[in-house]
Amino acid sequence: MNKPKKNSKKCLIIYFSLGGTTFKVANKISEGLLRSGYKVDLFNITENKHLTINKYSLIGIGFPVYMFRTPFNVIDYVKKLPSLDGIKYFVFILMGSGVIGSAGNKIRRILTKKKAREVGYLNLRGRDEYLGYLREGCLFSPQNPTKEELKQAFDFGHNLVDHMKVGFKKKPFDPPLKVLNYYIEIFLTCRFFVKYIYSWAFFLKKKKCTFEKKGCRVCIETCPVKNIKENRKRPVWRGFSCILCGYCELKCPEEAIISPFHFPFFRLFLKYNVKKGIQNPAVDHTFVVIKNGRIEPVKVKKGAQPFLLK
Ligand SMILES: Cc1cc2nc3c(=O)[nH]c(=O)nc-3n(C[C@H](O)[C@H](O)[C@H](O)COP(=O)(O)O)c2cc1C
Repeated sequence: MNKPKKNSKKCLIIYFSLGGTTFKVANKISEGLLRSGYKVDLFNITENKHLTINKYSLIGIGFPVYMFRTPFNVIDYVKKLPSLDGIKYFVFILMGSGVIGSAGNKIRRILTKKKAREVGYLNLRGRDEYLGYLREGCLFSPQNPTKEELKQAFDFGHNLVDHMKVGFKKKPFDPPLKVLNYYIEIFLTCRFFVKYIYSWAFFLKKKKCTFEKKGCRVCIETCPVKNIKENRKRPVWRGFSCILCGYCELKCPEEAIISPFHFPFFRLFLKYNVKKGIQNPAVDHTFVVIKNGRIEPVKVKKGAQPFLLK
């Protein structure tokens, strides 16, 4: 079989994005690369499509931080890539409340093991649709990425070519987290628990669900990892692939889904993080409620804690 021919000016950007902010940034980076004469293919990780990686000379991987780490489906995808010997890579990450944890380090380590050479690393803020915080009444970074950040993404793409020519001084790995609470949350959302407990621990308010009456399939279609199946005319959470993104509950127009984010032990940590986030002047926030699958702003007196309103 003929080996695919590597095109020296062809880039593949692989991204995962449920809220759309990583996608926006991927687009801007690709515009920057185009300006430098690169051809760019964008690939959404949730598409079930075969890719011939070896025909690209440069690949980019972009994703949001999920619970201080790389989303599990992104780790699995990148691990399955073939050897990337001779290929250059860059990573870009979107974060809501600005706590990145091991998200970038993990993927950079996997790619380096695959013999790819790093030429860029970028992280930016993105609107934080984390159900855990939204349920506590808070939306962090509602306006991000800002115009300036998108310009930064464009410049990042544009400058990659120089990095490749002149040589790129590798950015240091992100520092470890310093807050004990975060480690407890990381433990509570570890892969073992997500796979064997939370993947199955979604409850359906059968009377509210309109799957049978109106053929609503929002949750099934929203799930990025196909963890929701139909069974006896209703959606069921069956499988081990949940990534705890919370989007099935968030997008349900009937508010018929109760996810593990409602577990009392979880909420304790979520409340703490929301409180910390609100106190952080570097992160914007607004107060919100989730109504029929939409995030709606609410007015709160200055200094009030959103979850105390409930
Ligand atoms: C399930 C989930 C977990 C998240 N965990 C974190 C986190 O640990 N730290 C952080 O800064 N942002 C976190 N976020 C926020 C996202 O990383 C951020 O909003 C990102 O812009 C979303 O990307 P997207 O719009 O492409 O989906 C989380 C979001 C979700 C949905």
